[in-house]
Amino acid sequence: MGSLGEPSLTFKPLHPTFGAAVEGVDFSKPVPAEVLEEIKKGADRFGVLVFRGAHLNNETHIDFSKSLGDPNLYDVSAHIKAGRKMRFPEQPEIFDVSNVDDKGNIVTDADPARKEGNKGNFLWHADMVYNPRRALYSLLRAVELPPKGSGGETQYLDSRTAYDELPQDLKDEIEPLITNNSLMHNRKLGSPEFFKHIEPLDQPMARYKLVAPHEGSGRKNLYMTTYAHHLDGKTWEESKILFDRLWDHLIQEKYILTIYWDNNGDMVMWDNTAVLHRATSTGSYGEKYVRDMRRTTTKDNSAYSWGENDPNDPWEAGISQKRP
Ligand SMILES: [Fe+2]
Repeated sequence: MGSLGEPSLTFKPLHPTFGAAVEGVDFSKPVPAEVLEEIKKGADRFGVLVFRGAHLNNETHIDFSKSLGDPNLYDVSAHIKAGRKMRFPEQPEIFDVSNVDDKGNIVTDADPARKEGNKGNFLWHADMVYNPRRALYSLLRAVELPPKGSGGETQYLDSRTAYDELPQDLKDEIEPLITNNSLMHNRKLGSPEFFKHIEPLDQPMARYKLVAPHEGSGRKNLYMTTYAHHLDGKTWEESKILFDRLWDHLIQEKYILTIYWDNNGDMVMWDNTAVLHRATSTGSYGEKYVRDMRRTTTKDNSAYSWGENDPNDPWEAGISQKRP
């Protein structure tokens, strides 16, 4: 709200049911509390907010993200121990989702684990569903984009509206179900050959209700992602029958919004508890052009933040992960 209580931001819808471009935020200085409230309300309603020309740097990106919630921290030491060079070891809030290494070289087959692991991001997901405390907002900013027309769009899926439009008998069937979620399951789906020796069941899984209430809007969300390995009480094979049926429903064109990254400095913020997203295939830029994208993520603070997991037994999926 402005000083007289009127809204100070403009939300321009990008799709009939979700997504909006936000105008009126001045990112050149700390965003005032009343503007933050408008942004959060906008995120509750639209799920995906696009801020063109935000021009944040790592510091202001982290500050803005922290003003929206507790940051998720990247496990820098585990990655360094595993031999990976980090571009921002002093800023664990920054998730480096670029295709460049610490020397600015484009990631190629020389780092197959990273290249193959990234393929999981081309599958529909919400960030951090594989951890016992789920994520709320992700904020992805474009630092250096490949030439226009060479691919790299980000797609979003309105999983709340998709839930609303399920047939009632299917809604009733899935209401009590709980998914078991694994980062490595998604990685295997993305690159089956490369990760064929990894068994997701050897690692802990995060459990969440398949139908999750969305506090900010009072709606329900179909919290179905490619991290979902199996349902409580069912095997992977048995679960897959229902999962495939839900995917057939979810991936209808009418639920999908494609965001084109226009210019360096653009930022997109989304609510992981209300929408799904995916990276699109690298198109022609692949190993040819730098695509420097950086993300921060906030932890969920809602009543459903820990899902069906024990808040007293926190762990995080990752390369140092061991089964408890
Ligand atoms: Fe993601």
